[in-house]
Amino acid sequence: MQPAARPQNPQFSSGPCAKRPGWSLGGLEAACVGRSHRSAEGKAKLAEAIDRSRKLLGMPADYRLGIVPGSDTGAVEMALWSLLGARGVDLLAWEAFGKGWVADVVQQLKLKDVRSFEADYGALPDLRQTDSDRDIVFTWNGTTSGVRVPNGDWIKPDRQGLTICDATSAAFAMNLPWDRLDVVTWSWQKVLGGEAAHGMIALSPRAVARLESYKPAWPLPKIFQLSKGGKLIDGIFKGDTINTPSMLCVEDALDGLRWAEAIGGLPALIARSEANLAAIAAWVGRTPWIEFLAADAAIRSPTSVCLKMADAKAAGGIADLLAKEGVAYDIGAYRDAPPGLRIWGGATVETADLQALFPWLDWAWAELYR
Ligand SMILES: Cc1ncc(COP(=O)(O)O)c(C=O)c1O
Repeated sequence: MQPAARPQNPQFSSGPCAKRPGWSLGGLEAACVGRSHRSAEGKAKLAEAIDRSRKLLGMPADYRLGIVPGSDTGAVEMALWSLLGARGVDLLAWEAFGKGWVADVVQQLKLKDVRSFEADYGALPDLRQTDSDRDIVFTWNGTTSGVRVPNGDWIKPDRQGLTICDATSAAFAMNLPWDRLDVVTWSWQKVLGGEAAHGMIALSPRAVARLESYKPAWPLPKIFQLSKGGKLIDGIFKGDTINTPSMLCVEDALDGLRWAEAIGGLPALIARSEANLAAIAAWVGRTPWIEFLAADAAIRSPTSVCLKMADAKAAGGIADLLAKEGVAYDIGAYRDAPPGLRIWGGATVETADLQALFPWLDWAWAELYR
């Protein structure tokens, strides 16, 4: 028998992620559309998105935060191409996105003094092998394997190198130790349920110092440039976004930020995500045919929750069947990850919707083996 109740919101995608509870297009009516983003009103909206983000995240006052093109990918690439090459680099990778950054540094930038520490889906490399007097590039939360770093204790607070952290599925869901992070990037389409296309980049004073003192040996397209003539392009961090942003997306990002403030800020966002992970863990605990991809609970992601199943066909079958029923969209494992399910547990997902989903997952499994 099909379960009687359905999730109110069937959106469990790991990006773009579910809109916040109560979201509607009507909430974007104040968008500064049809106006120049350089008008006073447009710039004020962009600056507001920056200010609200910094406050919500508890970013140190001397860090800079800017809106950049190309979503999180754009933000990470800007950092890699603008900052690397000044000293040796340690790269950490344990899933598709981290491996992509390794390929970029090794094959595109062709840096020679590079050490790469990699692990397979479900595990973390030994973080203590890194040397924070070299530059370190890593992903805080590996969205395709559901594995996150447990903390930043393996990074020295008084380091010589820069840490470049892709935090796109971690920001607004996990505590980020700012004193260990020099570059932090994310996109709007993840934890707060914003629209894609825009990225954000946070820079520590030491990252700014590197930008102002080091010129890479390779050319940089205008869209990636963070400094000019040995000076940081200050406007990027005040709302003078380099190329034209969508003011509709900006309004939507503001909507997400205001919602996050209203429910209690970062602690509330983290608590919602952790509650979602706990709910999924309880279901996994009572379900014999599925387990966490990450065996170690200390490194399990509460946002991109990745589960594995012995039967690859069944995994795809469950995801397809529940999408067809309109009960859950986009819950199949990432294409390069081991077969299984990936269920987003970020703050915009209601725990009650997950509770409503579990009986459907049990039902779909039974249907496939009938
Ligand atoms: C860890 C990580 N890095 C990078 C990206 C790419 O993000 P975007 O498509 O927003 O550039 C994603 C998207 O899921 C991600 O999860």
